[in-house]
Amino acid sequence: MTDGEGVLRWGVIGTGGIAHSFLEAMQETPTGRVTAVGSRSAGRAREFADAWGIPVSHGGYAELARDEGVDAVYVATPHPGHHPHTLTCLDAGKHVLVEKPMAMNALQVAEMVAVARSRGRFLMEAMWTRYLPAYRLARDLVADGMIGRLCSLSAEFGISVPFDPDHRLFNTELGGGALLDLGVYPLALATDFLGELTVVGATRQLSPDRMVDTHTTVLARGEGGVSATLSCASRSTMPGRAVLVGTEGWLELDRTWAPTEVAVHRDGREPEVFHRPYRGNGYVHEVEEVARRVAEGRTQSPDMPWSESLRLARLMDLVRDVGGFVDEGAEAVAG
Ligand SMILES: NC(=O)c1ccc[n+]([C@@H]2O[C@H](COP(=O)([O-])OP(=O)(O)OC[C@H]3O[C@@H](n4cnc5c(N)ncnc54)[C@H](OP(=O)(O)O)[C@@H]3O)[C@@H](O)[C@H]2O)c1
Repeated sequence: MTDGEGVLRWGVIGTGGIAHSFLEAMQETPTGRVTAVGSRSAGRAREFADAWGIPVSHGGYAELARDEGVDAVYVATPHPGHHPHTLTCLDAGKHVLVEKPMAMNALQVAEMVAVARSRGRFLMEAMWTRYLPAYRLARDLVADGMIGRLCSLSAEFGISVPFDPDHRLFNTELGGGALLDLGVYPLALATDFLGELTVVGATRQLSPDRMVDTHTTVLARGEGGVSATLSCASRSTMPGRAVLVGTEGWLELDRTWAPTEVAVHRDGREPEVFHRPYRGNGYVHEVEEVARRVAEGRTQSPDMPWSESLRLARLMDLVRDVGGFVDEGAEAVAG
């Protein structure tokens, strides 16, 4: 399904921060154009449409899903909306790119996958990192044995956001918590390189109101005892690196979620640094992946298949199960 000239017609659900970034990315690619936007408010939809020159606006998500001028929908609402809004779109026959995390838990992800499968529609979690040039290079280098056999991995993503119980990151009704929003990146990196992981332990710090995690660290084990230390924070800036250690050296990505540089340190050799910037704000790479796979008649992306989103959601469920929230330390000082 395209406009007849091979251009994918996109609809966008939600008009927040990432929806604007998506539109910015769409300016960089000839593979698609945004033909409609849906908002909970007709006024906001119109405003967004005017700002980006989008021909059609809808004051409701179901209306957007039913729009016959749309082939694929980008779901850009807070996490709890990912499951219901994706189902609405799939049921209406649309392909879907849904923001990370794919849903609130593995049960919801499984249902989304089942519906995509039964409807024969493309569905992908917007794990944009996997399509970035530096990340892909790192993957190739590790697969080619550049650092020998992989032994351990550490990755992190932390940003410092002032505590505000109404903010998406701290509000349970909006899917708050560092793990789901930020931890998803180091965890996705670990599942990509290590496959199935066993959670050995997890520690957490909670928000001052004790409602969500603000700092989480996970120790996990892959096949053969390969270890992964994965951290995230919503109240502290972290260096953000990912380090993969092998039997013959180590490789570092400058940023776990959006790398532009790969440094390879092989035993006994000078380090090599590869610069691989992404295009624009980086989201164009995943957008083009969707267009490519839809054109091929596929329902999944081989680099972020349904099985991987399921694995990731299960892993996050497990991390949350490991300690529970009750006994863990809250930040002493609010603000
Ligand atoms: N891939 C990335 O790099 C990246 C970066 C940031 C965020 N994200 C993901 O994108 C999603 C949205 O994040 P965001 O930062 O864009 O959030 P945001 O700025 O708060 O925007 C979310 C939008 O969703 C709609 N919405 C629907 N139900 C809502 C509710 N109950 N409360 C608030 N808004 C609601 C709103 O649009 P209308 O009212 O107009 O319908 C709102 O503008 C999250 O799941 C997040 O994980 C991904």
